[in-house]
Amino acid sequence: MRLETTQEMNFGWIDPALLRDFQAEGTDSHRLCTMEDGWVERFGRDVLISFKRVLTRERLLTELHSWAGSVGFQFRRIFARFVPRKSEQREPPRLIFGDPGENLQTIATERHLKFGIDFGTGYSPGLFLDQRENRRYIRHIAPRRLLNCFAYTCSFSISAACRGATTLNIDVSKKSLARGRENFALNNLPTIDHRFIADDVRAVLPRLARRGEKFEAIILDPPTFSRSPGAKRFQVEEDFEKLLIDALELAERDGHVLLSTSCSALREHALEVMVRYCLKATRRAATFHRSSRLPDFPPGAGASSIWLALR
Ligand SMILES: C[S@@+](CC[C@H](N)C(=O)[O-])C[C@H]1O[C@@H](n2cnc3c(N)ncnc32)[C@H](O)[C@@H]1O
Repeated sequence: MRLETTQEMNFGWIDPALLRDFQAEGTDSHRLCTMEDGWVERFGRDVLISFKRVLTRERLLTELHSWAGSVGFQFRRIFARFVPRKSEQREPPRLIFGDPGENLQTIATERHLKFGIDFGTGYSPGLFLDQRENRRYIRHIAPRRLLNCFAYTCSFSISAACRGATTLNIDVSKKSLARGRENFALNNLPTIDHRFIADDVRAVLPRLARRGEKFEAIILDPPTFSRSPGAKRFQVEEDFEKLLIDALELAERDGHVLLSTSCSALREHALEVMVRYCLKATRRAATFHRSSRLPDFPPGAGASSIWLALR
């Protein structure tokens, strides 16, 4: 098993050269700093500090001001959120610097695509930055039909739709899918060729299979744990295997499937073992692919992901 050392997680503040690279590629949403007990992210002109200890928040806040001054990084507001052990205890970020009269929304850009950010709706503001390279990969594959499971604000679908894909977005949260539609509009992408289903992914996949639907790319990026109205309890360690088996039935012969999770018990090796079992059970064959490393994340931070290229 891979051990994450303190040194690896203490990545510090990003290099000014990386800041310039992000700007040059049309990205203003990325990590600024990673430490063992917290991290700092940028969403457009706003900054979010995530902390596991109050001392870490204070240290990151002080360092942010001096780092920003030294590299000429300008920001409008700072939000902070506590990272609890249990996801049920998560709360929305709080404004700790900036004008409390301004609305809590902003727009983040990633490789010239726009994503709506809202610091007032919940713990997560609308875009998972550790999926940036996976979003780039879906753009590279340019599938004709994408099935986006646990779609949240549909960021994978926006990335595929900008290359001409039609998408099917499933999420139990109607509000998240509504934000997904807004993201389509932000990028001038009409939603006529896109479907949105507010339901439990586990109930929808067999329905799609019965209808004989097939997809060239499928995204499986579930939460570690969730208990949502309209869906029975979801626990990734228990549910991922069946999800993948059901998804494989919907994948085109040479389709691609992304498996991604932030669950600490399902790092890449464990994911690989599970994938091999599911491929055998469904008599499918695939090669494994990993997206490029995120330059703003230290090794071991962020979600673990595997792409399957089916044969
Ligand atoms: C980790 S987020 C997905 C992030 C998304 N893939 C992205 O990169 O933006 C998890 C999402 O799963 C949804 N969800 C949780 N349980 C679900 C279920 N049983 N069926 C469908 N969606 C579910 C939540 O509403 C949430 O939007």
